[in-house]
Amino acid sequence: MMRLRAVELEVTDLSKAAEFLERVWGLFDAGSRGKTRYFRATADHPYVLSLTQAEKAAVDAVTFAGSASEISKIAGEKIKEFDAPGGGAGAIVEGPEGQRYRFVTNSEVPEKPVDGNRPIQLSHVVLNTRDWEACERFAVEKLGFRVSDRTSLNHSAFEMRDLDAVMNGIGRLREAGYACTWGPGRHGPGNNVFGYFVAPFGPVVEYTAEVEQVGDDYRVGGPEDWKWPAGRTDHWGISTRDNSRMHAAERSVPWS
Ligand SMILES: [Fe+2]
Repeated sequence: MMRLRAVELEVTDLSKAAEFLERVWGLFDAGSRGKTRYFRATADHPYVLSLTQAEKAAVDAVTFAGSASEISKIAGEKIKEFDAPGGGAGAIVEGPEGQRYRFVTNSEVPEKPVDGNRPIQLSHVVLNTRDWEACERFAVEKLGFRVSDRTSLNHSAFEMRDLDAVMNGIGRLREAGYACTWGPGRHGPGNNVFGYFVAPFGPVVEYTAEVEQVGDDYRVGGPEDWKWPAGRTDHWGISTRDNSRMHAAERSVPWS
């Protein structure tokens, strides 16, 4: 099964971003290649996020890992060996709006013990598109699945052990000076718990847990399935949402 492995970002202040990711967000150093640094979480992915020093913040790629036979079915520019932790062969596919998706053959590193203060792996990466219908068609027909609205990175979500780990994370971030911009709460779609923040290097990052696992018999939900009283933005209705900060950050990181 193809798995979401990593989001690859360009940042203007690599050392500041790295310090946030390691000391506050809970990721581990996973090595470097030239101007790029890699970070892993506790699951078996060689890395879940890369940062490359650049003149402006941008998203470079979203990376998926799969079996050699799954990867061989992906069209696009073939790569013999990716120069990143885990290596592997694969392909780079360009989306309808210049998005870059990297597909690489599986390689796993030993898991680290699950720790309530650290992300396990990426949960999801949400992308803005100009023409979501074209992008959805591309995701279904060319990539074999479904993706999400404008040419930028909306947010990257990191899976935490449980609700308690999300709540502890919100506390840890608050102590480090990062207010939760939305949360804690529980989403309609996915039914997952969440806390959103604006990372010091630009994009929105999310701690999440308890994402609903759906089977083949799952009926696809729509907005009509998640109606709440006016002003409520999640199941619980206890959190406020800093819309101006969220919206600005959700559009601040274009594709490179
Ligand atoms: Fe999310």
